Amino acid sequence: MKLDQLAPHELSEFAEFLERQCGIVLSEQKGYLVYSRLGPLVRQENLTSISELLQIAYKGSSAQLREKVVDAMTTNETLWFRDKYPFEILSKTLLTKLASVNRKVRIWSAACSSGQEPYSIAMCIQEFKRSHPRAFPYGIEIVATDISTEMLKRAKTGKFDSISISRGLADERKNRFFKAVDNNHMQLDHEIVSMVHFKPQNLLNSYSGLGRFDVVFCRNVLIYFSLSNKRKILQQIAACLQNHGALFLGASESIAELNQLFSLERNNPGIFYIKKSN
Ligand SMILES: C[S@@+](CC[C@H](N)C(=O)[O-])C[C@H]1O[C@@H](n2cnc3c(N)ncnc32)[C@H](O)[C@@H]1O
Repeated sequence: MKLDQLAPHELSEFAEFLERQCGIVLSEQKGYLVYSRLGPLVRQENLTSISELLQIAYKGSSAQLREKVVDAMTTNETLWFRDKYPFEILSKTLLTKLASVNRKVRIWSAACSSGQEPYSIAMCIQEFKRSHPRAFPYGIEIVATDISTEMLKRAKTGKFDSISISRGLADERKNRFFKAVDNNHMQLDHEIVSMVHFKPQNLLNSYSGLGRFDVVFCRNVLIYFSLSNKRKILQQIAACLQNHGALFLGASESIAELNQLFSLERNNPGIFYIKKSN
């Protein structure tokens, strides 16, 4: 066995650990991910093998290393206005409905990665407010959470490299909302950055500190979870949505037969879910 490989029992111990920590199910076919993602961490931590890395991470006293291991195993792939339709529905339907409610409107991006999703939401809101200056008389708040403190740190800066800028952002928005910092980076407008409150939140834990929301984006994260964790998370999301609040999942995700909690809403060009009233 090579130094950077794990014995089968170590691999299944790691799969159990990973699912307990963050919900991600490591299927047998994805074993290669362990080597490609933890190998660099072994070198960064000056250790000799993945096995040694994991033995240290499992210890109660190694919270920081445990976090790095989980971070390395999460997929942070994201882009601006991903799939387009959720943002069109938000701009054309949901914001119009919410514009005159007599309380603060709240939107949650529940696995926000490096921030493209919540910032795309913020751009939609700013564009909407431009044509509806009296909208949201009690304010509108975007809360963006992720399990990865590394991703949250990066997202909060509002600074993006040219590769991420080129993914999903129309030139018009790029010119309106970004300024070049150097040859390879752009800074998002301060007003947009300040509309988003970033916080750490593991979707497997309680959401009691988050409050209630009118719209939740929980996209391209449940796809990595078991059916039972997915159900638990969707039940918790339903509990913190306002009656008739809206939920967007990723384009390839569904509500895991929780039809008693949500109804499917077809709104050309896409679908979303509405929380049924209690
Ligand atoms: C593929 S990205 C999706 C980003 C964005 N929602 C989108 O659709 O473009 C998945 C994100 O889920 C986060 N994640 C994974 N497990 C999580 C958990 N248990 N709780 C919260 N976030 C988690 C990862 O850190 C990662 O940033």
